[in-house]
Amino acid sequence: MNDMSTVAPIPHYHPTGQECVLFETAQAMRLPLLLKGPTGCGKTRFVEHMAAKTGRKLYTVACHDDLSAADLIGRYLLKGGETEWVDGPLTRAVREGAICYLDEIVEARKDVTVVLHPLTDNRRTLMIDRTGEELQAPEGFMLVASYNPGYQNVLKRLKPSTRQRFLSASFDFPKADIETDVIVQESGIDAARAAGLVRLGGAIRRLSGMDLEEGVSTRLLIYAAVLINSGMSFENAIEAAVIEPLSDDADIQQALRDLVAVTFG
Ligand SMILES: Nc1ncnc2c1ncn2[C@@H]1O[C@H](COP(=O)(O)OP(=O)(O)O)[C@@H](O)[C@H]1O
Ligand SMILES: [Mg+2]
Repeated sequence: MNDMSTVAPIPHYHPTGQECVLFETAQAMRLPLLLKGPTGCGKTRFVEHMAAKTGRKLYTVACHDDLSAADLIGRYLLKGGETEWVDGPLTRAVREGAICYLDEIVEARKDVTVVLHPLTDNRRTLMIDRTGEELQAPEGFMLVASYNPGYQNVLKRLKPSTRQRFLSASFDFPKADIETDVIVQESGIDAARAAGLVRLGGAIRRLSGMDLEEGVSTRLLIYAAVLINSGMSFENAIEAAVIEPLSDDADIQQALRDLVAVTFG
């Protein structure tokens, strides 16, 4: 048994549906899992929570458009005049039977999905071309990926040949009572003011016809609560955590301020 003092606490996560059972089942069945949903709705926190709960080490990779297969698998590096092979996060996760979480997988370059295919079907193998190694993923290894279907970028869609390899779950902003509880837990603000922020969030998310790419995230509402709780005025907190992050357009910002006034008026 581990010494309790060295065990990190499990990150707080408030379930919003059947996602915890799905995760545990996917893990038991050795199947990869894809989490879909808008930014800041709790996907990363969910994976951190489940990894800690199930006692698995977690390797998180934030994918971007320069991320290549070598970034995930590893590469030869020059160390003191010698070349030395250094495992990337995916290879480490496979070797150690850990969880590898590819955040925003659609952002990654195409060669990344090629690497993932033999890992995500019943072969569960990782080919390391540069070293000639072929790793068999142990029981504990699990691949989790996330993507945001809300982005209207046709070039950034997940190909069916990739997405049909994953069990999938849709995430959305938590229902009002859960989101209130999350804001209270994360910021320390009182429930009444958290509920007010959640009402504002709901009003912003219901806006249609405005050029907002996405509604306000749970993350931003938490930021607003943290600022308010630290003593900042409500107006300044909303400005810095909600209005400015959501839009650069002066008209839209004014419309959001009007909505704030209506919501709290
Ligand atoms: N269901 C939830 N339980 C606990 N915290 C949550 C939940 N949903 C969102 N959060 C909070 O919102 C923040 C942003 O969520 P995150 O997991 O980073 O979003 P995503 O990965 O979907 O972009 C988290 O740091 C956490 O504080
Ligand atoms: Mg995330």
